[in-house]
Amino acid sequence: MSARDVGVVNGRAADERLIGHTVHALDEVDSTQAEIARLAAAGAPEGTVVTARHQRAGRGRRGREWWDGAGDSLLVSVLLRPSLPVAEAPLLSFLGALAVAVAVEAEGVAPRIRWPNDVLVDGRKLAGVLAEAATTAEGRLDRVVLGIGINVDQASFPPELVDRAVSLRILTGRRHDVGRVRDRLLGALDAGYRELRARGGAGLLAAWRRRSVTLGARVRTADGREGVAEDVDEAGALIVRTEDGRRLRVTAGEITGAPAA
Ligand code: BTN
Repeated sequence: MSARDVGVVNGRAADERLIGHTVHALDEVDSTQAEIARLAAAGAPEGTVVTARHQRAGRGRRGREWWDGAGDSLLVSVLLRPSLPVAEAPLLSFLGALAVAVAVEAEGVAPRIRWPNDVLVDGRKLAGVLAEAATTAEGRLDRVVLGIGINVDQASFPPELVDRAVSLRILTGRRHDVGRVRDRLLGALDAGYRELRARGGAGLLAAWRRRSVTLGARVRTADGREGVAEDVDEAGALIVRTEDGRRLRVTAGEITGAPAA
């Protein structure tokens, strides 16, 4: 494994960055999430990044697989050790989705975010975010491994994904450089994480709300309750108003029924 500097990201030299001061750029790995967990166990500092051209066992949310398309997909995991209460750990996945949106907007597309962190264009998934938290024996947040997959330069997808997934290349009709998208993503993550540490999650959530496809939409919670998604609270939970006027706070699982972005 080789660790290497990726140069200057958003005007910050490598040694000034919170995220991306060290980037382990791998050709192939089981999962960049697993690799970060191994590095964390070996004492890697916060902000360490692993990227790979291909994952043999890429992980999605809820135990799903994440397909890449070797060399055409941006596969990134970041080690974070935030000073946040466990209940606010979901803010990191909002940071991930927002940083993806900023990075792909610079490539000329206008994505929307489906709560909590799917990045969509025209209802098809351009990127996914997986935030895996580990707590200490005392129940405090020890680390969050923030994993991001962006479909960058795939010309096509396997038949089972073709209706649900899309790449920058398919959207714009031109080639997109995975390394450039990576640098933009790391720059946006670094800037957003600084903001979160300095001023809390309000600015992050405001930027997320502007891109949300979920707020204002009718949604159904995992346990079958329906209503309109009104807002997200300061910990990223979805606030849903039911038809009988009750206010639900949804923190886990998935909602369905949000319109295609
Ligand atoms: C989702 O299900 O939407 C989340 C997908 C997250 C995929 C990324 S790719 C880089 C990192 N390594 C993994 O194994 N998963 C995440």
